[in-house]
Amino acid sequence: MAFIEWTEQNKTNVKVCDDQHKKLFAMVNKLYDAMREGKGKEVMGEILNELLRYTLYHFSTEEELMEKYSYPGFIWHKKEHTELANKAKALKERFEAGEFIMSVEVLNFLKDWLNNHTVGSDKKYGTFLNEKGVF
Ligand SMILES: [Fe+2]
Ligand SMILES: [Fe+2]
Repeated sequence: MAFIEWTEQNKTNVKVCDDQHKKLFAMVNKLYDAMREGKGKEVMGEILNELLRYTLYHFSTEEELMEKYSYPGFIWHKKEHTELANKAKALKERFEAGEFIMSVEVLNFLKDWLNNHTVGSDKKYGTFLNEKGVF
């Protein structure tokens, strides 16, 4: 069973964002599998790096869309992204410094973030963009 599953609940109804979210969910599952299989630090670090890079790319996609259509909640949403990115970077640094935090802490952070942020904040811009004819 997958660690985290994308469902209709996570749907923003904006295709590019939903596709990126699905990919992010899959990457978290990949990290979970690697951990369960007892993969080494190098493999885990690589997946974590890839995940972080893709997350930043995803944030910029959303921010560009929100800005383009003058989404009223843009500033707040962007602030949430910045906070999440900072937390993720800090976890990555601790991981690289040799702390064994990979397991529960990182995975739960990613799971909560993906679920809460997509169901909470992302869905809101989805509704707004849909009203502007963006799907
Ligand atoms: Fe998102
Ligand atoms: Fe977002």
